[in-house]
Amino acid sequence: MAKRIAVLVSGGGTNLQALIDAQARGEIVNGEIAAVIASNPDAYALERAKKAGIPTYVVARKSYPSSQAMTVALVEQLQALHIDLVVLAGFMVILTSEMVQAFPNAILNVHPALIPSFAGPGCYGLHVHEKALEYGVKLSGATVHFVSEECDGGPIVSQKAVEVLPDDTPEILQRRIMENCEWKLLPQAVSLFCQGRLKVEGRTVRILD
Ligand code: GAR
Repeated sequence: MAKRIAVLVSGGGTNLQALIDAQARGEIVNGEIAAVIASNPDAYALERAKKAGIPTYVVARKSYPSSQAMTVALVEQLQALHIDLVVLAGFMVILTSEMVQAFPNAILNVHPALIPSFAGPGCYGLHVHEKALEYGVKLSGATVHFVSEECDGGPIVSQKAVEVLPDDTPEILQRRIMENCEWKLLPQAVSLFCQGRLKVEGRTVRILD
């Protein structure tokens, strides 16, 4: 049976769009985007989901007294929807351990840097690219990884690099990494998961033929 995927979003949702487009091309093998859940009712990603006919939900951080209470509500919503795979696609809330315990090795995140560089608390969105430029790296990129209890610390599924160019701004670098890395790696990883082809062995993820 096709795996039921929930995509969690907070903002613009270009990674969600990449997943929707890949699904329309038949590239999410054995998977179906069953729900889009936003941490913020104004997320433009919700419009993208509605346009694609995907059911949307909001579990807003500010409706709960703590991130733990929000995580518990989110887990209940995901379980009620019989979700098999949770995809964090530009999801800007750090979830507590209840999430990983409910979905062990079944949560994927896309991060806009080559982990372990420019990762962890405080490294999200445009800040990641600001830090990479400040540091002066010549390569940056994106990482898709399983989510563990350590922020940005779970086993790595895939990574792709691009060059950092002399006149880059954080916005220009972000766009290059999204187009060349994130929008390709995330749908590929989701499809591999849905086909049962990602095997986690300690910190290593083996991709089965
Ligand atoms: C993406 O670059 C994503 O990798 C990043 O935020 C952006 C969201 O864009 N996520 C993180 O920084 C998570 N730590 P999108 O809403 O257009 O997909």
